[in-house]
Amino acid sequence: MTNSKTDYNKLLSGIVQELKPYFGQGQQADYIPELANVDPNKFGISLAFLDGRTFTYGDSEERFSIQSISKVFTTAAAFGLIGKKLWERVDIEPSGTPFNSLLQLEQEQGIPRNPFINAGALVVTDVLMSNLNDPYADMLNFVRELSGCSSIEYNQVVVDSELDTAYRNAALAYYLKSFGNLDNHPIEVLKLYIHYCSIEMSCTELAQAFHLFARRNRLDCNIPDLTPSQLKRLNALMQTCGFYDESGEFSFLVGLPGKSGVGGGIAAVYPDFYSVAVWSPRLNEKGNSILGMKALELLTSKSGLSIF
Ligand code: DON
Repeated sequence: MTNSKTDYNKLLSGIVQELKPYFGQGQQADYIPELANVDPNKFGISLAFLDGRTFTYGDSEERFSIQSISKVFTTAAAFGLIGKKLWERVDIEPSGTPFNSLLQLEQEQGIPRNPFINAGALVVTDVLMSNLNDPYADMLNFVRELSGCSSIEYNQVVVDSELDTAYRNAALAYYLKSFGNLDNHPIEVLKLYIHYCSIEMSCTELAQAFHLFARRNRLDCNIPDLTPSQLKRLNALMQTCGFYDESGEFSFLVGLPGKSGVGGGIAAVYPDFYSVAVWSPRLNEKGNSILGMKALELLTSKSGLSIF
């Protein structure tokens, strides 16, 4: 087990040395064409302890598309706004299916398995659309506030690129509407969801924003008023559902609540100790960053800082 005297800069560079055999494996997401234009060899990591110590390596300050990591912020906001009524419209069980699957929606009468698969995130987005004054500006401000960085933005090029090819997500949105589980127009919900996914942040900004979940303090903030109990539940959801049909694997290898995105980012927390964000665009077949997962496995194994 490491302590405050551990040289985390050395630990991070040692991890990167051990990652070398995995460099070049996997590829960027290309079903959102703009994401395929990102340099696949980028790698950054930012480890941010709650006591203020931060350690970084590589491209840790470069912004990337957070994609599905945004689902943690949107779920937090929706949970803060409408409380446990949210779980009448979205379940809290792991799906064991890919993030964009339509299969379970038919069997389960339009109630998505959890808020992190695309179907669940669309319902969460619908809640935000109905409950925020300005769902575009308010969510952006929430993320800016959490990360302490007012220059965070949506990337309109990524939005347009995803909208052009969002056939599965459009199908999911219309399907949800047919079950009465969207209040707003499916296309309006889809557009807002795609904007949330297009938010760009660096590893350091993400790690800072995830202090919310590591700290588990009541949050006094413009949108949601999240209680410690709600933050505990958001961590539980990340632990069980954050990596879709690879959630068991991530839990087994890394042992932290976390969330991935097809931009190649992963953010994770060790409650009461630290949050960490890693970015490497090359993905495995489940849509999760190969080097990102491996780096976090090495981090928790070498430092002993995991919840298990
Ligand atoms: O809806 C989509 O397909 C993307 N905007 C986000 C998917 C994603 O990041 C899945 N995560 N690993």
